[in-house]
Amino acid sequence: MSKTIFILNGPNLNLLGQREPEVYGHKTLSDIESACDKLGQTLGLGIKLFQSNHEGEIVEHIHMARDQAAGIIINPAAFTHTSVAILDALNTFDAPVIEVHISNIYKREPFRHHSYISGRADAVISGCGTDGYTLALRHIATLVS
Ligand code: DQA
Repeated sequence: MSKTIFILNGPNLNLLGQREPEVYGHKTLSDIESACDKLGQTLGLGIKLFQSNHEGEIVEHIHMARDQAAGIIINPAAFTHTSVAILDALNTFDAPVIEVHISNIYKREPFRHHSYISGRADAVISGCGTDGYTLALRHIATLVS
């Protein structure tokens, strides 16, 4: 059976494609899911994409990943800059974690420059647009092989 990678997405990413397209582009989360699904098939990885506007639901998915996933790709969105709970949950997960941001958070407002998640992440991709997700999937494939 192929290994599964969880792709977790935080608040407002359900609105990708409509939300500030000059910052986040025109692709939707469903476009990202299709691209990752297709690439996953060539890499021999299954993917499960989940989005929530609720911090606790993301924490619970990280707990599920402990038994069900070989790696996590996470765009915590605004929770990046606020959530010790997501950091603590990721610290219970003993496999690769890649943090993705569509925009370059370091080129934006100072409050976006700090990430609670980066101290746990094995890699961080920021500013590659929605391609960041497929780049992360390629890299995580090398980490879990
Ligand atoms: C984001 C950057 C965050 O600062 C912001 O709150 C988001 C999206 C990104 O993908 O660029 O919602 O994580």
